Amino acid sequence: MSGGERSFSVRIAPAGWTFEAPRAMTLLEAAARAGVRLASSCRNGTCRACMCRLASGNVSYRIEWPGLLPEEKAQGFILPCVAMAASDLVIEAPQAVRNSASEAHRA
Ligand code: FES
Repeated sequence: MSGGERSFSVRIAPAGWTFEAPRAMTLLEAAARAGVRLASSCRNGTCRACMCRLASGNVSYRIEWPGLLPEEKAQGFILPCVAMAASDLVIEAPQAVRNSASEAHRA
């Protein structure tokens, strides 16, 4: 991997947990690495099980057209299984669960 690996801070709302998300890792993977489990199923951007809303920040996508309607994108919905942080983020994921050994901390 080339140098300059950047990561961004991601906060899960309303729980308030935060974790680091490298820009080359999906939000689902970065959350899992920090011990935060987000809803998921297919993990390839088609089933929409992971869909949640981005309260602030920007994401980029690993695939060209993730399974979101243009209106949903416009409303701020993202698919964390194929989305990567492009800035610090706040994600509304009320169904998120944190492992007891989680590294994520409350901001
Ligand atoms: S887990 Fe299926 S779209 Fe994200």
